Amino acid sequence: MAILVTGGMGYIGSHTIVELQTAGYDAVIYDNLSNSNEKVLDRIENITGKRPVFYKGDIRDRKMLDKVFEEEKIECCIHFAGLKAVGESVQKPVEYYDNNISGTLTLVDVMRKHGCKNIIFSSSATVYGDPVMIPITEECPKGECTNPYGWSKSMLEQILTDMQHADPEWNVVLLRYFNPIGAHKSGTMGENPNGIPNNLMPYITQVAVGKREELGVFGNDYDTHDGTGVRDYIHVVDLAIGHVKAVKKLEESAGLCIYNLGTGVGYSVLDVVKNFEEASGVKVPYSIKPRRAGDIATCYSDASKAKKELGWEAKYGIKEMCEDSWRWQKNNPNGYDD
Ligand code: NAD
Ligand code: WQD
Repeated sequence: MAILVTGGMGYIGSHTIVELQTAGYDAVIYDNLSNSNEKVLDRIENITGKRPVFYKGDIRDRKMLDKVFEEEKIECCIHFAGLKAVGESVQKPVEYYDNNISGTLTLVDVMRKHGCKNIIFSSSATVYGDPVMIPITEECPKGECTNPYGWSKSMLEQILTDMQHADPEWNVVLLRYFNPIGAHKSGTMGENPNGIPNNLMPYITQVAVGKREELGVFGNDYDTHDGTGVRDYIHVVDLAIGHVKAVKKLEESAGLCIYNLGTGVGYSVLDVVKNFEEASGVKVPYSIKPRRAGDIATCYSDASKAKKELGWEAKYGIKEMCEDSWRWQKNNPNGYDD
């Protein structure tokens, strides 16, 4: 039996494949390569000694998904495939809803047709909107999202919840990620953003490697210890291991479960810059810019539910996150492109 990993060629998916294979699971990747590179397969093989089965296909392509379920024995699906650029989603809402929502509806329809009713879904702390409590527990009510990307995650959580209520044979695990950063220790796999990075850590590493002049810090007048935004950064390998634990939860017939995957610790933008400079030995010039639309002051998790129910907690701290992000960027200044 194998685990179908949609979006398994991407940043979080590829690290999850490594951890699944290391834990002895067989993984089948399904990805349209819209935001990833086929070289990831070589890197996974070099790390684990095993090349995962890969199907190039789109989650909106019912025929292709049918073929995968006919050819492979799939027991559950980890569903990473989706578009994730917040700003782009504001410009292209129809494309985002089509990809993320239509794609997921097609996927779950094909899954149930083939009798596979186990799914782990990549959700996001963005569903909490401007959170009404800090640290954020899973009990915190969902909030207003500020962009179509965020709404697609919030709506998909609702869709998968309704589906599980209507048919309790489904096991659905919703994982709300905080801010994934870092890279595999080998320095051969990491985040590979297209164009100008939207997120903090890839921007910092591109400044450090000389591809960009300086970091813009979006606002220093928030109600935080130094005025810059505070987030719960989590090492991508910890996040990947969280998925292996979630697979074990599915095996217990979980019903519907929701978990935050974070560290429970918040760092400001300037804390991250300082930690990165210490870890890399490279200075990161920055200047203060206006606040970015839609940003909130503070967002960090209460991660105790995942610890109690999944036996999972993050083991890497900010130092390793910075060291590993830097090793990846330094060794691969152009990501997976030569
Ligand atoms: P990523 O872009 O690196 O990976 C997503 C993968 O999905 C890519 O390989 C892409 O080619 C593939 N894909 C996209 N649309 C597809 C489609 N229609 N059919 C088949 N494949 C498709 O992103 P990531 O950072 O690894 O994120 C993985 C998941 O986690 C996404 O759903 C994302 O929204 C979610 N998430 C990410 C973050 C983050 O900060 N990185 C935070 C919270 C949630
Ligand atoms: C972190 C902090 C910025 C870039 C986003 C999505 C969220 C989730 C994770 C997918 C903030 C500041 C950033 C820069 C900066 N993705 N910053 N200069 O906004 O917490 O979350 O990614 O689900 O949905 O919204 O992450 O890395 O963009 O920003 O000062 O060039 O860094 O203002 O305080 P964010 P981020």
